[in-house]
Amino acid sequence: MSERFVIEGLAGKKTLQGEVEIKGAKNAALKALPASVLFEDEMPMGNLPDIEDVRRMQELIAGLKDGPVLRKDIAERLRASIVLTGPVLARDGEVTFPYPGGCVLGERPIDLFLQGFKALGAEVEEKDDLFHFRAKNKKLKGARIFFPFISVTATETLMLAAVLAEGETVLQNAAMEPEIPVLAEYLNACGANITGAGTPTITITGGGLLHAAGRKYVTPPDRIEAGSFIILAALAGKEVKISHCEPKHMGALLAVLRRADVDFEIGKDYVTVFGGNKENSAYKLISVRTHEYPGFPTDLQAPMAVFMSQATGEGTLLETIFDGRFRYADDLIRMGADITVMNPHKILVRGPKNLSRKELEGPDLRAGLAYILAATVAEGTSTINNPYVIDRGYERIEERLFALGLSIRREQV
Ligand code: EPU
Repeated sequence: MSERFVIEGLAGKKTLQGEVEIKGAKNAALKALPASVLFEDEMPMGNLPDIEDVRRMQELIAGLKDGPVLRKDIAERLRASIVLTGPVLARDGEVTFPYPGGCVLGERPIDLFLQGFKALGAEVEEKDDLFHFRAKNKKLKGARIFFPFISVTATETLMLAAVLAEGETVLQNAAMEPEIPVLAEYLNACGANITGAGTPTITITGGGLLHAAGRKYVTPPDRIEAGSFIILAALAGKEVKISHCEPKHMGALLAVLRRADVDFEIGKDYVTVFGGNKENSAYKLISVRTHEYPGFPTDLQAPMAVFMSQATGEGTLLETIFDGRFRYADDLIRMGADITVMNPHKILVRGPKNLSRKELEGPDLRAGLAYILAATVAEGTSTINNPYVIDRGYERIEERLFALGLSIRREQV
C-alpha cells in the first residue's frame, strides 16, 4: 500500500494562521550523530528531528558494532552516510562503504572525500562496488587540505576525522554553514581542539577520544524548514509565527523577501509573517542566485520558484551549486506557472500566474516541499504521491500545516 498527500488549495487566498514550531535541523543532526563515534562515553543529543533520514543514520551507526563497515543497503540511500566514514576511519583505522545515495540532484561526486582521506594518510582499495580505506599504522596523520569546491559534507567529514588524527589539519576553502561551528563548539567543549569553524579556514589539532561527561549536543533549528514555512506564510498566510528558529541563519532569504515587499517581523527566535497585508500580486519578483552559506541556500531554490511564480514581474533563478535541480519546473509549468528553463542552471520566471490542481510526484525532498506550497496556492485539490521523500526531512509536516488551517491529509492508496 502506498500513501499520498491530498491538499485542498486556497486559490490564492491567504487564510493560514497561527504558530508553527521549527524542529531541529536535519543537516545538523545527520553530522552530529556520526560525531558520536569520536567519543569514549555516550554523547547525549537533544532536539533531534523525528525524520526518516535520522532513523537511517541511527541504524547505520548501530550496524558498526559488527565492525567498521557501513551497511550497503542504507548507505546507498543516504548521502549523509559518507559523513560517518570520517570518524570511523579515524577511530578504527579503517572503514568500508559503498557509493552514497540520497536525493538525485544531478551528479554528486565524492572525490573530495577520497582525496581528503588520502591526504590524511589513508590508502584506498576499491572492490565489488565498495571503498575500503585503511590508515597506515591504524592512525590518520594531520595534513593541509585545500578543497577545490566548497562542500558541506566534505568539510564536516574531514573535520571529524581530523579530531582523532595525529597533529594538525588545516582545511581551506571550507564550507561555512552554521551547522559546522555549532558542532565544532560542542566538540571543543568535550575535548576537541578546532578553531575557525564557520570561516573558510578550519584548523584542527588532533588528540584522543572525546568525553561528553553528560554534556548535551542541542540540534540547532532547521533554517531550511523555517525558510520554507516563511515562504508559505508569505503566499498563503494571514498572520503566521514561525517560532523556535534562528533568524540570524536566514539572512539571505529574509533580505530577498524584504526586497520583494513581504511584510514580516523578526524576533530573537521567531519570524512573524503578515501575509494578509498584501495580495501575492503586490510582491515584486526578485531574481535570485543560490550560493554557499551565507548566500541564498540551494535547498530553498524550489520553494523560491513557487514564490516567484506568484509575484509580479520577471526574473531569473540561477542554481550555482547543483546540476539537475530544476526537475520540478515542468510540474509547476503544468500547474500554470510561467517558467522557461534556460539551461540546467537557470530558469526564467514571469508572474503572477494562477496555479491549478495537479497530481504530483516530488522528485526530491525540497522539490516535494515546493509542491506542497504550489498545491496550497493552487485552485482545486492536488495530490502529492510519494510523501516518503518529504518525510525524509520534515517531521509530521501535514499535522503542522493542518494546525495552521490548511486542508491537508495523508491518505493510504
Ligand atoms: N562536490 C564535488 N565533489 C565532492 C563533493 C561535492 O564535486 O566530493 C560538489 C557537488 O557535486 C556539488 C557541490 O560540490 O556541486 C556542493 O555539494 P556539497 O558537497 O556541499 O553538498 P552535500 O554536502 O552533498 C549538503 C546538504 C544538501 C545541500 C548541500 C548544499 C547534507 C546531508 N546535505 O549536501 O542538502 O543541498 O549541502 O548546501 O548536509 C537536502 O537537505 O535536501 C540537501 C540536498
